[in-house]
Amino acid sequence: MQLQILNDEILRLKKEKNAIILAHNYQVPEVQDIADFVGDSLGLSQMAGKTEAEMIVFCGVHFMAETASIISQDKKVLIPDLQAGCSLASTINAEQLREWKSENPGAVVVSYVNTTAEVKAESDYCCTSSNAVKIVNAIPKDKKILFLPDKYLASYVKAVTGREIEIWDGACHVHEKIGDLSLEDAKGAYPNAEILIHPECGCSTSCMLKSLKYKGSQNIKIFSTEGMINHVRESEANEFLIATEVGILHRMKKDNPRKTFHPASEESVCEYMKMITIEKLYNSLLNEEYEVKVPRELALKAYLPIERMISIC
Ligand code: 13P
Ligand code: SF4
Repeated sequence: MQLQILNDEILRLKKEKNAIILAHNYQVPEVQDIADFVGDSLGLSQMAGKTEAEMIVFCGVHFMAETASIISQDKKVLIPDLQAGCSLASTINAEQLREWKSENPGAVVVSYVNTTAEVKAESDYCCTSSNAVKIVNAIPKDKKILFLPDKYLASYVKAVTGREIEIWDGACHVHEKIGDLSLEDAKGAYPNAEILIHPECGCSTSCMLKSLKYKGSQNIKIFSTEGMINHVRESEANEFLIATEVGILHRMKKDNPRKTFHPASEESVCEYMKMITIEKLYNSLLNEEYEVKVPRELALKAYLPIERMISIC
């Protein structure tokens, strides 16, 4: 089917079924363009919580659709492709977390939102890339913290807060490959560019730590995907180097046609995010596939750390 016909059919089905389409900032352009809301993990969860639609078609990865189901138990949550997983979320399961907790009695567990519902249910606090430091700072100072699953974000939070933090050895294969971005090289290639780095998976720990070292003296900033989107809109700079998944450049260019954007690496492509296509989105609405439903008892447990996060932020 041609793109225009697919778009028209999607809009018709959406209205007929009282559905809302949520898309992450890394989705392919056609999916972002037809979505009702495009955002980061936190923004998408908040939208899932406040929408009055009866059905949510979640164009993102599985843990994000699960989070929507946890927050909106009364809604039908669909993901257009069940295989859209997350390499970072799969680095830890509930059994491994229970074992880690038993080795560290009394420690407080802070889980990044990139985790399964089962792992969230074993956690004390949830956090996102935009609020991880704030969440850790809100935990009593005498408490040891187990931070999971991303080791780069954890190292960054540890360096900023100075807290006693045990770090789970997890990473996102996409961001890890960006490697040790040479800020000196980047400044050399794009001397007028602001450098924006995603903290979640990190381009690397050293990259983030360098950003602290250079803070104020160079144009380096750390943001969640939505933080980046907001920053490029408001900044007086006209050129940006973006260290995260390249899907985000679509919205940046669309919102800021006069500004220039360079990816830190053209190869930063999340194949899980790219599994969602406009055709699959259409099939999802048409056939109401594939439902992501977190069972009620598990959802209630997994909601607690999310609720604590929301009450702090
Ligand atoms: P954000 O919450 O910043 O959108 O990040 C989610 C994610 O999975 C990026 O890899
Ligand atoms: Fe997961 Fe990495 Fe893809 Fe984000 S970019 S969804 S952390 S695999």
